[in-house]
Amino acid sequence: MNLVLIGYMGSGKSAVGRALAQTLDFQFNDLDQLIEQSESQTIAGIFQTKGEIYFRKKEAEAIRDVLSKNKKVVLATGGGTPCYGNTMDFLLQQPNVSTIYLKTSLEVLTGRLFIEKESRPLIAHLKSTEDLNDFIRKHLFERTAVYERANEIVITDGLEVTEIVRE
Ligand code: S3P
Repeated sequence: MNLVLIGYMGSGKSAVGRALAQTLDFQFNDLDQLIEQSESQTIAGIFQTKGEIYFRKKEAEAIRDVLSKNKKVVLATGGGTPCYGNTMDFLLQQPNVSTIYLKTSLEVLTGRLFIEKESRPLIAHLKSTEDLNDFIRKHLFERTAVYERANEIVITDGLEVTEIVRE
């Protein structure tokens, strides 16, 4: 069984994934990190030099690759990974994959992402919390229908990482 964590930027996929893998004695992989390694470039650098479409293609390839090679992996995806091409259909069709949506409120996401936005090319240019909040509200609305197709949904607001892992 492989566990795939999906959810918006800042929902805690990497932190929860690392702790979940440790608890289950699974391997942990972070899709963004795998792409950065294989491309020898940061995500921001890839967006800047090769563009978002190139990144989405690499992301779709990388998730299929990592799941085909592993049996006990917890995979933290990027916020957009299930939202492009047929990746969500692909994930739901895999008999050995369980998808878990880390559902985090707009307020919590805005607070976290304002501090962490520089490394994230889609939001790095937003100057005020109001602009960021507006962007996330619309973007999250577009993506939620995909995220909510996950096998499991965990509402993360107010929970510590260890509590999310337990859920
Ligand atoms: C993205 C989320 C990022 C990264 C890229 C695009 C998105 O991952 O893949 O900046 O489209 O939501 P995180 O969710 O880990 O920030």
